[in-house]
Amino acid sequence: MPADTATRPRRLKRITIELLIIVLLLGATCYWLLFIRATNGELTFENKLLIPHQLFGTVVDGRRQFHLTVAEGSREFFPGKQTPTAGVNGPFLGPTVRLRRGEDVDLIVQNNLDEITTMHWHGMHVPARMDGTPHQKIEPGESWTASFPVDQQAAPLWYHPHPHGSTGRHVYRGVAGLMWIDDDNSNALDLPKTYGVDDIPIVLQDRLFDDDGAFRFARNQGAVYGNTMLINGTYNPFLQVESRRIRFRLLNGSNARIYYIGFDDNREFHQIATDGGFLETPLQTNRVILAPGERAEILVDFSDGAEVVLKSYPEAGFLRTITSFFWGIGTGNLQLLKIVPRPTNRASHALPERLNTISRIDPSLAAKTRPMVLAGPRQGGRGGRGGRLQNIQQRITRNLAALQGERGQGGRGGRGGRGGPPINGKTMDMARIDEVVRLGDIEIWEVHNRGGQPHPFHLHPVQFQILDRNGQPSTSADLGWKDTVLVPPGDLVRIIMAFDRYADPQVPYMYHCHILEHEDNGMMGQFLVVEEPEQLSLITGKTTVVTFITGVQCGHCYEHARLFDEVLRENDINLVVITPESDPDQERVAALSSSLISDTSGKWAGWFGMAHTGPAHGTVLLDATGEVVWKSTAPEPYMDVHHLVNRAKNLPGR
Ligand code: C2O
Ligand code: CU
Ligand code: CU
Repeated sequence: MPADTATRPRRLKRITIELLIIVLLLGATCYWLLFIRATNGELTFENKLLIPHQLFGTVVDGRRQFHLTVAEGSREFFPGKQTPTAGVNGPFLGPTVRLRRGEDVDLIVQNNLDEITTMHWHGMHVPARMDGTPHQKIEPGESWTASFPVDQQAAPLWYHPHPHGSTGRHVYRGVAGLMWIDDDNSNALDLPKTYGVDDIPIVLQDRLFDDDGAFRFARNQGAVYGNTMLINGTYNPFLQVESRRIRFRLLNGSNARIYYIGFDDNREFHQIATDGGFLETPLQTNRVILAPGERAEILVDFSDGAEVVLKSYPEAGFLRTITSFFWGIGTGNLQLLKIVPRPTNRASHALPERLNTISRIDPSLAAKTRPMVLAGPRQGGRGGRGGRLQNIQQRITRNLAALQGERGQGGRGGRGGRGGPPINGKTMDMARIDEVVRLGDIEIWEVHNRGGQPHPFHLHPVQFQILDRNGQPSTSADLGWKDTVLVPPGDLVRIIMAFDRYADPQVPYMYHCHILEHEDNGMMGQFLVVEEPEQLSLITGKTTVVTFITGVQCGHCYEHARLFDEVLRENDINLVVITPESDPDQERVAALSSSLISDTSGKWAGWFGMAHTGPAHGTVLLDATGEVVWKSTAPEPYMDVHHLVNRAKNLPGR
């Protein structure tokens, strides 16, 4: 009996120790699987990194012309396996288009695919008609020319198709390329500039392959991720460089994956440029985060001669890394490119002290602040501002919420991707104008991610500055010019920009999430940049209804105008009737007591965001300050004039 009572606690102790060891081992294995082992740990870095050709174009009548032909092809990424692809002037990806500030260019895009495509110049400041959005369709066998002056600072831009609903598929097959602008500043700076030698383009793309070598375009959690990395379309790549300072111009050309880029020896390097141009001074760091669509230029010193692997780290956060692992997306721990330095006598470029001058846009000059609420309905409150989220407890809650949110969205994606995460509670509609921006205005957009996953928010025609994140003023790389900004779940990022060029009352620009499957699922909106129409003074100082008709010639339009004319006059509400006709029937016009404007330029329609592809009829109600308080666009004229009168009478300050 005494022996028995003595062994029991001993056995318990032994079991406890064994359990502890098992738990520790399991923990260590998980940690290794998640944070140490690269998803593509099998790479041997045997293929020479492909460098895209450069395209300098030819000058014809003072304009520099570039020919870009989009076509299907095939590429041997793996020995003996042909992968069906598509590309620009070649089977996969496209040439690096070199542009100079101050030149006028024509980009002639030939579509040799058997489906509609478009070509968008991502980051370029161009007129809306030249932007290559879903509205500038190129039919199979047809060509389209984008003409514009290159008038923005040196920057690493890119181009890719933008057909609504299938941008992801087009880019995934390989249609995309780099577009670099040079200017006097970039020419004068002492930076590595020998293309492919010490100035290296890097296009990062993850792909999923079938056994026969074909790309598999398969959604996981609502977007397309791959476990195989292609760098400039090279699988398993290495790059020989001279052992001195090398410049890399990185583009995340992936559909959905975010990279936390660094080197496997964790060496420090310098970031010198963001999406839209050079930073003011080189930024010393050992990581660059790149979401889809984003670019960065870095300078890396290889004078120690050591071989090193460019890689992506699993730094999206503990919970996200674990869930991504179990979803089969991978932890984001990926090897990208092995760099093999060779001895050289050539001196290294010094690190420039100064790269650029970036004058900050003054927020007090903003004419308007627009909310951009991602992946959630528009709500009154503005949580998450003022640095309150710095609190650790809230951060954990946020991560948990993120986890649940992602699961929900994943479910939707899995059932065929209906709907899609919206912006301001709306899903993209090509026939609807979501926002109208006045030419010359400076605006602040408050991009608030109320959804469960990070969204890279991109807006088209201008480069912007990041004012703050959750109330914290921008630092480091956030001080650079951007056209795409990563907004983590729960965050509120305020951006500011000047819409200083190119009004068009009919053709909209886009803003959207640059996770291409989110965009294709409708996480996109349209905005016009417009000039003030003539005679706008007709509507100021008084409650006004502006109604758009297809013409006084049209029976129901005229009936509608007559009814509005009579009822609104009785109720002392101002009415302005807008017709696109240049020469409306004078007899019919005379029968109306209201002002009738021939809007042949479309400026009135644009000012009030009437869609150009959509319904021709629209009615807006404006308060005495000229603000739109109610709007309807429909295929038929809005006839409920009494409803409008009631609304007008209830306006405050009337
Ligand atoms: Cu890079 Cu609207 O796109
Ligand atoms: Cu763009
Ligand atoms: Cu998104």
